[in-house]
Amino acid sequence: MAYPTSQEWYNSEELEGANVKFFLDTANLDELKKGADWGIVDGVTTNPTLIAKEGRPLEDQIRLICEIVDGDISAEVVSTEAGQMVREGRELARLHHNVVVKCPLTRDGIKATSTLSKDGIRVNVTLCFSAAQALLAAKAGAYIVSPFVGRLDDIGWTGMDLIKSIVNIYKIHGFKTQVLAASVRSPTHVVDAAAAGAHIATMPLKVLDMLFNHPLTDKGLDQFLKDWAKVFQEAPVAG
Ligand code: G3P
Repeated sequence: MAYPTSQEWYNSEELEGANVKFFLDTANLDELKKGADWGIVDGVTTNPTLIAKEGRPLEDQIRLICEIVDGDISAEVVSTEAGQMVREGRELARLHHNVVVKCPLTRDGIKATSTLSKDGIRVNVTLCFSAAQALLAAKAGAYIVSPFVGRLDDIGWTGMDLIKSIVNIYKIHGFKTQVLAASVRSPTHVVDAAAAGAHIATMPLKVLDMLFNHPLTDKGLDQFLKDWAKVFQEAPVAG
C-alpha cells in the first residue's frame, strides 16, 4: 500500500475522525513479529538507542522492520547539522515507502524538517517537550510530532498535559501534524493519550501486552469454560 506524501496528507480529509493508531516503540524483530501477529500494530518508531541495541546497521534493520509491519516506520537521523540531516533523511526515505524520517527538535532539526517536508518526505519531529516546540514542528510541516510523556513525568511534570495542550492548539489552528504520544510507559498513558485526542501512541511491546490484562476477563473465561464442560464435555470413561 502506498503511503501519502506530506502534501497529499495535508490535503486529505483522513485526519477527520481518524482512530488512534498503536505503534510499537522497538527495533527488535522478535518483539515486532509478536506484536504484529495480534493484528493491531499500525506502525513502528525507532531511535538511535533502540537501533544500537540490535547491533545491525540502521539501513538493514529498517529494511527488516519494513518486512514485518506495513505502516509508518520512523527512522531517525544521527547528524546534527541541517544539511547533513537532509542528506541522511533523503537516504532513509529511499529505503522503503513506509519510512518516516525522524529529526530532533533542534534549530537544525526544524530547518531539515522544513526542507524534507517541502520535498514531500514525511518527518516525525522527536524529542518534543513543550507546546512551543510542537508549534515549531507544525510550522515546519512535520507529518508527526513526538512529545515524550514518560520523560516529563520523570522530572515531576505531568507529561499528559502536554499532549492535551498540543492537540488543542493544533485543532484551533487546523494543523494536520499528527500528535504521537511517545515515551509511553503504562496502559494508563495509552488510554489517557487516546482520551486526549493523540493520533498515535507508541509503546514498548510490554505495554501493548499489558493492555490485554484484566482479572475479570480471566475469571469470567474460566467460569464460562467450566460451565460449558459440565454439560457438553464427555465424562471420562471409567476404568
Ligand atoms: O518514543 C520515544 C521513546 O523511545 C522514549 O522512551 O522510555 O526511553 O523515555 P523512553
